[in-house]
Amino acid sequence: MRFDVITIFPEMFEAITQYGVTSRAFSKDICRLNTWNPRDFTTDPRKTVDDRAYGGGPGMVMMAAPLEDTLQAIHSDISKQFTVKKGPTVLMSPQGRVFNQELSRELCQLEQITLVCGRYEAVDQRFIDQHVDFELSIGDYVVSGGELPALVVMDSLIRLLPNALGDANSAQQDSFSEGLLDCPHYTRPENYKNILVPGVLLGGHHGRIEDWRRSEALIATQKRRPDLIVAARNKGLLSKKDEK
Ligand code: ADE
Repeated sequence: MRFDVITIFPEMFEAITQYGVTSRAFSKDICRLNTWNPRDFTTDPRKTVDDRAYGGGPGMVMMAAPLEDTLQAIHSDISKQFTVKKGPTVLMSPQGRVFNQELSRELCQLEQITLVCGRYEAVDQRFIDQHVDFELSIGDYVVSGGELPALVVMDSLIRLLPNALGDANSAQQDSFSEGLLDCPHYTRPENYKNILVPGVLLGGHHGRIEDWRRSEALIATQKRRPDLIVAARNKGLLSKKDEK
């Protein structure tokens, strides 16, 4: 999968290319990242990418022209790479569709995606109307720019790419992969300050362990996020055994 990211802070993306399991996916060429700085597509000596809002008020607005020129450069670069099918242009924004695991599973099928990271108060609506396919939010709160949200979305997509994770099963075992929260986990020692690991996990009986994990996931989800139980039931993800 090819990621193209429009950002005035390209260094922030080292968080994903240089650390942890996501960095392995880049070095194994399972995914690629190109960052594009709209300041490189300005014509004035100060490399201006923002200006005051028409109508007044505090905060600056990202100008349409540098963003449009950046996007054009991305599209011409993609067209040179004959094997990659151009994907959607997505603006990170609290006004967008709220990202979740289901959407992550859809988007990870794409060959390419362009993420636009806004800074300042807003992005000129004319750029959005002409070039953005959809807006994506990571939740109902505001952070200072689109970079952290883009990193969150990319990390989630990369986890789902084939062979990105060391253990082939680990993305399937993530919470939410079955629409439920995760079960509790334990490691050594067996007795930690007189608190014991649940006995079923020590027995080596895979069927019983799987049943216990499923049951604990259902209990945790019912207790903390009953809305997810309702959603899982409506999607037919709960068996008769689960309902007991
Ligand atoms: N930019 C600022 N806040 C955001 C959010 N919650 N999601 C996506 N982009 C954002």
